[in-house]
Amino acid sequence: MLLKKIEDALNEQINAEMWSAYLYLSMSLHFEHEGRTGIANWFRVQFQEEQAHALALMDYLNARDGRVVLQPIAGVPDSWESVKDAFLATLEHERKVTSLIHNLYAMAEDEKDFATRQKLNTFIAEQVEEEDSVRQIIDDLTLVGEDGTGLYQIDRQLAARTYVAPQL
Ligand SMILES: [Fe+2]
Repeated sequence: MLLKKIEDALNEQINAEMWSAYLYLSMSLHFEHEGRTGIANWFRVQFQEEQAHALALMDYLNARDGRVVLQPIAGVPDSWESVKDAFLATLEHERKVTSLIHNLYAMAEDEKDFATRQKLNTFIAEQVEEEDSVRQIIDDLTLVGEDGTGLYQIDRQLAARTYVAPQL
């Protein structure tokens, strides 16, 4: 039997994942408008991944006979000073999401909800990858600085990213 407090916490996490999706969609649209189509592509894939995270949690709640309750998604920023600013904001946000998942994991552990704890393992691993890939992009951006050719090359590199459904 799924505890109400775990059900509520999972619903909150679903909302957080949907907000993440909305944030990255906003970043994608911003950079599309700026003509940085590779960066826009990277954030569009990121948007798809976040939707997959939310859906995986919804499927899990359903499998546990819980009730998914969709809450309104709060507004997101709609412009960033630079590509690097957007990636710094992404890293900061992903760190926040990591701590939310860790809190959820700790709650599942306290309540001896081993199934939820097990489910969250994949999310914890996903966060490690997420933060690492964003950090690498930030390192590259720091390296090229204001160099137009360097930024162009990063944009082309990120244009190659394709969506692969995460195994959750
Ligand atoms: Fe996520």
